[in-house]
Amino acid sequence: MSRIKEHPILGNEIRRKKVTIYCDNREIKAYEGEMIAAALIANGIRTFRYTKRFDKPRGLYCGIGRCTDCVMTVNGIPNVRTCITPVEEGMVITTQEGLGCWERSGDNEKI
Ligand code: FES
Repeated sequence: MSRIKEHPILGNEIRRKKVTIYCDNREIKAYEGEMIAAALIANGIRTFRYTKRFDKPRGLYCGIGRCTDCVMTVNGIPNVRTCITPVEEGMVITTQEGLGCWERSGDNEKI
């Protein structure tokens, strides 16, 4: 994982507990509380969704929760802005296609 260790405004990196999350069935090591987008980028994942109309890839853009380019499906909930959503142990994240869809918990049926 490569991450910024020192930042002129935010200061030095704070070591947090390492946790495991899953992105498109890939196991990823992340730090609890960091933003999902940061964890994905640190692990080489840059495409977070594909647009509805032209199926174009999108990833981190504004990084402050305004543009929605970073939305993904997180724990079955579509349209989660990953740049402002902190990592929690065991999160299941999937690349979102178009507007996304809800998944019923307990089975993989999409609504
Ligand atoms: S990158 Fe713009 S809302 Fe997340």
